[in-house]
Amino acid sequence: MEATCSRLLSLLLLLLSPRAFAAGVADTLSKGSNITGNETLVSANGTFTMGFFSLGASTNQRYYLGIWFSVSRDAVCWVANSERPLSDKTGALVLSDTGNLLLRDGSGQIVWSSNSTIASSSSVEVQLLETGNLVLRDQGSSYILWQSFDHPSNTLLSGMKVGKDLWNGAEWHLTSWSSSDDPSPGLYRRVLDTSGLPDFVLLQGNVTIYRTGPWNGRSFSGATEVLGYTDLVTLGVTISPEEISYGYTSKPGAALTRLVVTADTRMVKRFVWDNSSREWNPIFQGPRDLCDDYGKCGGFGLCDVDSVLSFCSCLRGFSPASPSAWTWDAASGCRRNVELRCSNGSTTDGFVLVKGVKLPDTHNASVFMGITLKECRKRCRANCSCLAYAAADIRGGGVPSGCVMWTDNIVDLRYVDRGQDMYLRLAKSELDKDFTLVAVVAPVASTVAALALFLLIWWRRTKTKRTASDPAWSPTMGDRSIDLPAVKMSTGDFSQSHMIGEGGFAVVYKGELPDGRTVAVKRLKQSALTDKGQRDFAREVDVMANVRHGNVLRLLAYCNDGGERILIYAFMPNKSLDLYIFGNPSDRARLNWRQRLDIIHGVAHGVAYLHQGSEESVVHRDLKPSNVLLDDNWKPKIADFNTAKLFIKDQPDQSDLTIVVSPFGVVLLETLSGRRNGPTKGVISNARRFCQQDRAMALLDSTVPLPVSPPDSEISSELERYIKIGLLCVQEAPENRPDMSAVVAMLTTRNSDISLLARAAQQSHAED
Ligand SMILES: *[C@@H]1O[C@H](CO)[C@@H](O)[C@H](O)[C@H]1NC(C)=O
Ligand SMILES: *[C@@H]1O[C@H](CO)[C@@H](O)[C@H](O)[C@H]1NC(C)=O
Ligand SMILES: *[C@@H]1O[C@H](CO)[C@@H](O)[C@H](O)[C@H]1NC(C)=O
Ligand SMILES: *[C@@H]1O[C@H](CO)[C@@H](O)[C@H](O)[C@H]1NC(C)=O
Ligand SMILES: *[C@@H]1O[C@H](CO)[C@@H](O)[C@H](O)[C@H]1NC(C)=O
Ligand SMILES: *[C@@H]1O[C@H](CO)[C@@H](O)[C@H](O)[C@H]1NC(C)=O
Ligand SMILES: *[C@@H]1O[C@H](CO)[C@@H](O)[C@H](O)[C@H]1NC(C)=O
Ligand SMILES: *[C@@H]1O[C@H](CO)[C@@H](O)[C@H](O)[C@H]1NC(C)=O
Ligand SMILES: *[C@@H]1O[C@H](CO)[C@@H](O)[C@H](O)[C@H]1NC(C)=O
Repeated sequence: MEATCSRLLSLLLLLLSPRAFAAGVADTLSKGSNITGNETLVSANGTFTMGFFSLGASTNQRYYLGIWFSVSRDAVCWVANSERPLSDKTGALVLSDTGNLLLRDGSGQIVWSSNSTIASSSSVEVQLLETGNLVLRDQGSSYILWQSFDHPSNTLLSGMKVGKDLWNGAEWHLTSWSSSDDPSPGLYRRVLDTSGLPDFVLLQGNVTIYRTGPWNGRSFSGATEVLGYTDLVTLGVTISPEEISYGYTSKPGAALTRLVVTADTRMVKRFVWDNSSREWNPIFQGPRDLCDDYGKCGGFGLCDVDSVLSFCSCLRGFSPASPSAWTWDAASGCRRNVELRCSNGSTTDGFVLVKGVKLPDTHNASVFMGITLKECRKRCRANCSCLAYAAADIRGGGVPSGCVMWTDNIVDLRYVDRGQDMYLRLAKSELDKDFTLVAVVAPVASTVAALALFLLIWWRRTKTKRTASDPAWSPTMGDRSIDLPAVKMSTGDFSQSHMIGEGGFAVVYKGELPDGRTVAVKRLKQSALTDKGQRDFAREVDVMANVRHGNVLRLLAYCNDGGERILIYAFMPNKSLDLYIFGNPSDRARLNWRQRLDIIHGVAHGVAYLHQGSEESVVHRDLKPSNVLLDDNWKPKIADFNTAKLFIKDQPDQSDLTIVVSPFGVVLLETLSGRRNGPTKGVISNARRFCQQDRAMALLDSTVPLPVSPPDSEISSELERYIKIGLLCVQEAPENRPDMSAVVAMLTTRNSDISLLARAAQQSHAED
């Protein structure tokens, strides 16, 4: 392989030289000429190469004609004769007189043909484009007779598409290889399901095994990771009278990327080429966990990969169809507790919000674009067969629109980061019902005695949205509770050796779940169980139960048993941000500038997410470095919501949202300066002064080395920009502060208008 690579490289260098054309290698094959043996076509700027390659053991080599990334011969993205390999290198690719592209074996037999049969033209040629597309066209006209992009193999490249051509009924889809050394069609197909909303599904034969979730204008609703790499690719779905298709295009100058249906792992993976390590890094794979297995929890089931006991639960108002099926035989699913009351359009039913999900399969759903969500609700309510609805298009950010209505079943529903909201139809009596711990959990527990050993979770929803100030609110409501013996078992009966922290109101223990996962168990002190303490606990449960974001600490479960109030969170091995930014020099050195910028960026995303709830916003009223925890990848997670405030949108106290921007600005400036912003607000005034003197970098923590090599001048300018954004956030007058989504946008856009920022910052000086 080593030898092949260096040969390839030297070949490449040759090809890239101006003489390449003269030497008979190029990106174009004209009529009557052929490619054979080691000859190749190389695209104009050298990104792709087409030629013969071999697979299989050395005693049984099979030869294929294909296209690969020039930097990486293993990354084959298209194969012509995948089903009819040649046994030696003596084959040749020929452009016939009739404009047909033919692959002949050594004896002249045709093993593959493009079947393009436009005989009249005398001037056809074949060109390997810089996109990796091999096109056969009429010289002088742009009319394409045939192109490899219309016949995908197992790889989706930038500019390719999957979906349906509505003119001729053709379908573009990806097909896995049979195995990593056999490109013949394998078991898996990746197709765009165009019934309902477009959904990118992975099929085994005719059985769906994974979906990305329906397209919502921004991304597929269950594969929101892609929103995190917008500097790499732009996604797009085309819906027109000609076609319904999905594809992506690489951003100019971005790293090479490819999406592959793998042969042996029944997975779709996106890889990005790392030019410095010279390897392909996977940045996305689907299915990513058990909850992505299609229909894992059956009809009306909901999958939660963070759940402590069983991944599956039933939607509110539903119960397991076969209660003993705790292993969640996907076929069984859940059944409705109380029948809907609806006839001839008149109904007393209502809707309950299911937040942050990959929307269910829309294959049989009805879609109406161009109506509002409100209208969608009305339509769903008026149609007795409508079981749930959701927005079909969330491009507008805060204003979702369009309508998707499910009428037969709710299948393949799961929680995801940055997921969508769905509204589920329930009978009025179900909406009114107050589920209590005893009423719901006890019968199930007694049915399945063996479960006593496990943590028990039950999915319950509060009857209506409540604010923490609502006097009727009680902490027994929330989403998930576990029983005390289970908590005790996980922490060695709250033993000293499990203790990892203690505050004024709570002790935190490290716990271990039966499945081996490590959790942080926060147990309120008895002295803290005052009315206020109980309210704070209740608030934290209520707020956290509905919050799902990669930068907000997930509440896994809670326990409200007798005198105990316990919260269970994912365990964060790297503890909190303050330990590093204010710690001793060796602790400070553990977070370099890139990591610090990423942490700030993550915190901003988390706060913006909390503010942006579709119906209610969460205001964290105690944002500070010690409440920013770090996971094993140093990804920040905002924690400690016991003083958070939850309010329904459209209420007048929206100003809270810009007030909280200021603590964020302080966290930003503290993280970069390594100093606490004490009562004298020294960090802020220093930052202002340095900025005025045009030496913002003087604010930076001098114990953290600034990189010197050229690519890092980029980091310097980024640091400076962050400082200025931090200053914008801490302006005296709340009305001058940007809102969190604007902050995220400024942090994200590399070349956001600094002069604009500076002007705004100056404005803030004027107020001093
Ligand atoms: C390929 O082209 C070479 C030179 O033009 C010619 O000698 C050879 O016969 C061709 N081979 C095939 C299979 O057409
Ligand atoms: C093709 O490559 C093989 C293996 O590197 C080499 O032995 C052979 O000489 C090359 N053939 C031609 C025609 O360059
Ligand atoms: C090849 O690279 C040059 C310089 O980077 C660029 O201007 C040109 O557009 C590229 N050509 C193609 C076909 O991508
Ligand atoms: C060309 O036609 C043959 C015979 O109909 C068929 O087997 C083959 O798959 C076709 N090739 C392509 C590239 O469509
Ligand atoms: C799906 O495939 C199975 C087995 O190959 C077959 O029995 C079944 O009829 C197919 N179903 C449909 C809807 O094509
Ligand atoms: C990739 O790295 C090589 C040196 O290893 C360099 O010459 C080339 O410009 C780099 N390409 C890109 C796109 O960064
Ligand atoms: C349904 O309502 C329509 C008008 O609202 C009425 O004409 C029709 O008789 C009703 N049908 C039934 C079965 O009640
Ligand atoms: C769609 O309807 C068909 C036919 O009734 C049914 O077999 C299939 O399971 C339904 N699909 C979904 C996702 O509900
Ligand atoms: C209710 O919705 C279903 C599915 O969209 C549709 O077939 C049916 O006609 C609708 N019924 C009414 C009364 O609008």
